[in-house]
Amino acid sequence: MEDMEKFLFKFKGYHFNRSLVDIGFIENLDNFEIRENDVFIVTYPKSGTIWCQQLLSLIYSEEHRKGTGKLETMDRVPFFEYNIRKVDFGERPSPRLFSTHLPYYLVPSALKSKTAKIIYVYRNPKDVMCSYFHFAKNVMSHFTVIGSLWFDHIKGWYEHRSLFNIQFMTYEEMKKDLRVSVSKICKFLGKELSEEDMDAVVRQATFENMKYDPLANYDNVIATVFGPNVKGHFLRKGTIGDWKNHMTVEQNERFDKIFQREMNDFPLEFIWDVNED
Ligand code: PPS
Repeated sequence: MEDMEKFLFKFKGYHFNRSLVDIGFIENLDNFEIRENDVFIVTYPKSGTIWCQQLLSLIYSEEHRKGTGKLETMDRVPFFEYNIRKVDFGERPSPRLFSTHLPYYLVPSALKSKTAKIIYVYRNPKDVMCSYFHFAKNVMSHFTVIGSLWFDHIKGWYEHRSLFNIQFMTYEEMKKDLRVSVSKICKFLGKELSEEDMDAVVRQATFENMKYDPLANYDNVIATVFGPNVKGHFLRKGTIGDWKNHMTVEQNERFDKIFQREMNDFPLEFIWDVNED
């Protein structure tokens, strides 16, 4: 409870990381001025945010594809509600790319004019939980969860999808066929890339390449936010089904029971295992 108050800031039923958030900005989110070519990545934490940030940046930036730029991903596709570099978003050139964990009811209402685009990436929640657990233990070194319930996040966005110009993607489809996923993203964004550019995007967005690319792996960001002594990495394992190595049979059964209760009529499918289609 003490940790909750210390680390989290609660606003309209949603928990923000207190130390990273500008409360005035959060209170005025609704009125934030949206441009018609803004693009937002929306995720529940640990669902592939930085991966999608890297993809969007590569799709939009030729200098990034060619490896001549020296900007970190955080500066190319900043976090909307965690503006740790204190950038003036109004000064950013178009098209502006953002990432956010916000629930559907907290994003600027101008997104409902449906010109700006949203890519919602979701991941099977056992792997989300597993990834979050490691991040909390090794990087954050405390166990608080920002956001709200995973169920509320995905159901809220899905059930209100008709209000937005939104494309749903899964972490698992990106993992299974990154090239097909990049094509899907480009189609949604109305971007046409040559075969050569497509190759460059896919090559630079693989787990292995991102892990060892200091501009993409967020090691600097982690050190800035959580201190130099963190033990873990943003890019930890990057696989489907790692939950099997961590959850006990009993935990898994409990999880399944809750999942079935909460997601009974929910139409989107989840891939829990690397061998599933
Ligand atoms: S955060 O803190 O919400 O921004 O985290 P997020 O970026 O959403 O999720 C981190 C997990 O995504 C994995 N990741 C990748 N997997 C496969 N390929 C690529 N290129 C990739 N980039 C990031 C990252 O490793 C975290 O998952 P785990 O399971 O912990 O490895």
